[in-house]
Amino acid sequence: MTDHTTILALESSCDETAAAVVRDGGEVLSSAVASQVDLHARFGGVVPELASRAHIEAVNPIIDRALAEAGVGPKAIDAVAVTSEPGLIGSLLVGVMAAKTLSWAWGVPLVGVNHVYAHAYAAALDGEPIRYPAAALICSGGHTALYRCGGPTDMELLGSTIDDAAGEAFDKAASIMGLGYPGGPAIDRVAREGDPEAVELPRTLLKGPSLDFSFSGIKTAVLYHVNGLPESPGNPRKPARGRGPHARRAAAQQHAGQGIEAFTRREVADLAASFQAAVVDVLRIKLRRAAKATGARTLILGGGVAANTALRAAASDLAEGLGCTLRLPPMKYCVDNAAMVGGLAHHYLRAGRTDNLDLETRATVRR
Ligand code: KG4
Ligand code: ZN
Repeated sequence: MTDHTTILALESSCDETAAAVVRDGGEVLSSAVASQVDLHARFGGVVPELASRAHIEAVNPIIDRALAEAGVGPKAIDAVAVTSEPGLIGSLLVGVMAAKTLSWAWGVPLVGVNHVYAHAYAAALDGEPIRYPAAALICSGGHTALYRCGGPTDMELLGSTIDDAAGEAFDKAASIMGLGYPGGPAIDRVAREGDPEAVELPRTLLKGPSLDFSFSGIKTAVLYHVNGLPESPGNPRKPARGRGPHARRAAAQQHAGQGIEAFTRREVADLAASFQAAVVDVLRIKLRRAAKATGARTLILGGGVAANTALRAAASDLAEGLGCTLRLPPMKYCVDNAAMVGGLAHHYLRAGRTDNLDLETRATVRR
């Protein structure tokens, strides 16, 4: 191996089949992604069985594409990296089997990578090296986690969601609001026309020092706001209206509790804006706590929810207030991709941390 490393990386943990060629941990020679979003859209979420089958069909063509776009052949590849955890097991297995096969056939090391760590590393691609320590907030459809990053391979989990992921909450709330799937971009768009204080929604787990998240309460609050509180003895079905400081504004939501069809366009926009503001508030407050606790010099955002306009603005204000650098990867590296996997794998390879052909897949994050 020369001083340089050229890594072929694969990613198949959820609903994107991706391959990339990355040099020296940062220079992305190619990053090819085959998205399955259309396949799952009519189900309103990722169907694991369909995802695995689609990965099987996409994996070889996407590897060929990544090599062709990078203009390199197998002889130029020093190692094969792959996401081995966390994710949908059936999906992970496809990428891992392909990576093992190539590693064996080409006689190069295999490097298994944690997908969420890779999301935190995405900020280092095609840019200046990151100044560590950093506090990283990774929010996607499958994960919401805060890390202290001492370096690319030095990751400490500070907190994670105890129920829904932030992106999942966006997707479910959007579905309740009749905005389609994936919900994050739809809420982001509609929220621009709404009043973020119109509907009072809960901000969970803010008391005490916890760095964990919970988003199932806000999803339920949105559901009740739209459909009314469920019937129970002595409590006939009735609209859920705000009672707190924003009650007057909430009362302006005349059709609350009557089902989303009854909502005016303005009321949907107000609800979307209020939901987004509540989620972003929680994310901002926890990221601030994490940054302070770790003495972070850099704030990192990653995962699909990092595309959110309000979250990006909040993180930017936060970084300025704390005197930190904010590293916001371009969107192509925020969503699932293999370049982030190949970039991080370079550091494992350099540290001699490679895997054997018995590399296992894991569905959940190791704490
Ligand atoms: O990272 P990603 O592409 O895939 C996963 O690993 O899950 O993230 C997808 C998630 C979806 O839940 C989607 O609704 C959310 O990211 N998302 C957004 C936005 N764009 C995508 N959430 C909020 N605002 C956005 N603009
Ligand atoms: Zn992801």
